[in-house]
Amino acid sequence: MLIIETENYKELSKRAAEILIYEINKKPSSVIGFATGGTPLGLYKNLVRSYKNKSVDFSKIISFNLDEYYPIKKESRDSYFYYMYKNLFDLININKKNINFLNGETKEYKKECKSFEKKINKNPIDIQIIGVGVNGHVAFNEPGTSINSKTRLINLTPETIEINSRFFKKRKENVPKKALTMGIRTIMKSKKIILLASGKNKAKAIKRLIDGPIGKDYPISYFKKHKNLIVIIDKEAGRLLK
Ligand code: F6R
Repeated sequence: MLIIETENYKELSKRAAEILIYEINKKPSSVIGFATGGTPLGLYKNLVRSYKNKSVDFSKIISFNLDEYYPIKKESRDSYFYYMYKNLFDLININKKNINFLNGETKEYKKECKSFEKKINKNPIDIQIIGVGVNGHVAFNEPGTSINSKTRLINLTPETIEINSRFFKKRKENVPKKALTMGIRTIMKSKKIILLASGKNKAKAIKRLIDGPIGKDYPISYFKKHKNLIVIIDKEAGRLLK
């Protein structure tokens, strides 16, 4: 595990972008796994800026996203699909045919999860970006998730619904109670993982990952086992570390 402790969120976002751009320039057809939420927004701003400066070309990358609410319409402003297009995909030259997303509109969610898992197996992820929930979740793998979990439908915890309602236009009552998510095993297969964590409410989860035992009560702790994990944190997220 490589730990990069930065001064603040701005520096964290810059460092993450530098690593990702370096990898894409090395391998233009990289398979990248993206995350949503508040934390990667600064990274995406940096990627867009670098694209405009012509220091990176996204035309050959293949993308996967970690998760999507269920059920949700793609065009809903609250969907992760919408978030990714608004904050990144519409602003760079990614080939839209190379974008892979869990379909929150499908009725056949089991089939959807199976085919998503299959697509990842065919196009192994080179670099996966992840964040971490206050409760230690990764993607929507909530506490209690098995290390062997695959892409599937899950129930969100009341805590996650409450925390994520801050992004919803009409607040809490609109947050779906379920989501489709890559499993822990799916994410762990990525060749390289970059974890981003910012702010004091992430400090406990970061402490558990770095100084604590592996256990299903904090799914982030499973990632201690990954052979190529880069943890980029700011001072506040690292405040409980020795
Ligand atoms: C999002 C995702 C979630 C978030 C986590 C942290 O695709 O998979 O696990 O990474 O909830 O969210 P933020 O960054 O909003 O604190």
